[in-house]
Amino acid sequence: MKALTVPSGWKLFATLAGLTLLMTALVLAAQPLGSDGLRSAIRATARSSFALFVLTFLASSLVAFLPGPGSRRVLRERRYLGLAFAFSHTVHGLLIYRYAQQFPELFWAGRTATSSLPGSIGYLFLLLLTLTSFKAPMRLLGSRAWKALHSTGMWVLAAVFCLSFYKRIPMGGWYPLAFAVMFAAVALKLTAKLASYQRRVTTAPSTSSLS
Ligand code: HEM
Repeated sequence: MKALTVPSGWKLFATLAGLTLLMTALVLAAQPLGSDGLRSAIRATARSSFALFVLTFLASSLVAFLPGPGSRRVLRERRYLGLAFAFSHTVHGLLIYRYAQQFPELFWAGRTATSSLPGSIGYLFLLLLTLTSFKAPMRLLGSRAWKALHSTGMWVLAAVFCLSFYKRIPMGGWYPLAFAVMFAAVALKLTAKLASYQRRVTTAPSTSSLS
């Protein structure tokens, strides 16, 4: 019998995108068409986005802290995991649009344009990161600007996830755990960055030894 292999590259993206659509369809089908079903699907897609985002965000740190074939694989697939996150979050956005159109009074209850600002900025970065994930715009930007944009964008998105979970902590349920996971991911990434900086500083040839 042929062993089940995890797809890679665009096949991995297509599989994850298909699973996101299947999950959304199942969540919508499980409830009568209405505001509750849409909100459940919005929450479900936020959660699939969260899982894919954390993997993409931590890909390089995992290789540093847990070197092995699994973490190297995640790092190799980072681009496709990131694009799958963008896909899942596009579905989140489309569902939010539908919810706002169909139930404006529910959508705007307790929400203002200002309170939606962090999420909207998050979407702006998501768009920029997605567009620049392809070769031509990547080349156009140049490697320094590309790195700066992608690093800033990932930190902005991490901050939006932190904020989204933080404001829901009083609701209990899984929100305190989700916030703790996002917070721990930020701490792990910062520690990996610091360790890599220190390694570079200690292995760089000192200028005095060259003179
Ligand atoms: C990058 C941007 C965004 C991120 C990372 C994000 C993330 C999240 C998260 C983590 C949740 C909670 C999921 C859960 O219940 O476990 C959520 C739910 C939700 N988000 Fe987003 N979101 C973003 C943008 C937006 C924007 C711009 C809006 C609307 C203006 C929005 C509207 C909603 C709504 C209506 C819910 C469901 C609330 C509920 O039924 O409890 N989101 N989002």
